[in-house]
Amino acid sequence: MRLVLALALTFLTPGRSDLLRDSVHVTSAAARPNNELWCYKCRAEQPDDKCADLRQNSSSLIHKCLNEKRICMVKRFSYTTSTENSTTALTMWALERNCTKNCEPGCIVIGERTKLYSCTSCCASSLCNYGSGTQTLITANSGISALFLLVYVMLS
Ligand SMILES: *[C@@H]1O[C@H](CO)[C@@H](O)[C@H](O)[C@H]1NC(C)=O
Ligand SMILES: *[C@@H]1O[C@H](CO)[C@@H](O)[C@H](O)[C@H]1NC(C)=O
Ligand SMILES: *[C@@H]1O[C@H](CO)[C@@H](O)[C@H](O)[C@H]1NC(C)=O
Repeated sequence: MRLVLALALTFLTPGRSDLLRDSVHVTSAAARPNNELWCYKCRAEQPDDKCADLRQNSSSLIHKCLNEKRICMVKRFSYTTSTENSTTALTMWALERNCTKNCEPGCIVIGERTKLYSCTSCCASSLCNYGSGTQTLITANSGISALFLLVYVMLS
């Protein structure tokens, strides 16, 4: 139940804070507000690392973003290997959370038999980069998911 609530909240807040930021933004570049963004900042090299699974107590990974770094991001590196008949499951080999200035969401895939994936997701509200870095695959539906989650919360 608590998890569902947290999910519903995190789906809804990024959009709202974007609106806020944009409306302040148009006034003037010189009057740009101070950077009040906080992001998780850490690097994981195995899936059970604290940084990869933020359900654990992760307050020590919270970091204040400075200067023009106004986006939180998660970058996840993973791979699959294939034979002619089969492909292994996607295996993570590194993950990074950080504040950043420029963030391009999506995946870059290189390789044939061994495919390397580098997937990035971006968000602009404090501590929004808690995810596993795979949610870019479902962003198109996040508005609808948030609605379903809300309904679910109200019914339960
Ligand atoms: C976060 O980004 C900065 C550069 O913007 C980089 O120097 C630093 O190593 C990164 N931290 C992690 C944990 O990836
Ligand atoms: C999380 O860790 C911090 C110190 O790192 C501690 O002060 C806090 O009480 C912990 N919270 C929980 C819920 O365990
Ligand atoms: C792939 O499948 C074919 C037939 O289904 C089999 O002959 C071949 O040995 C398999 N190759 C590998 C690498 O398992």
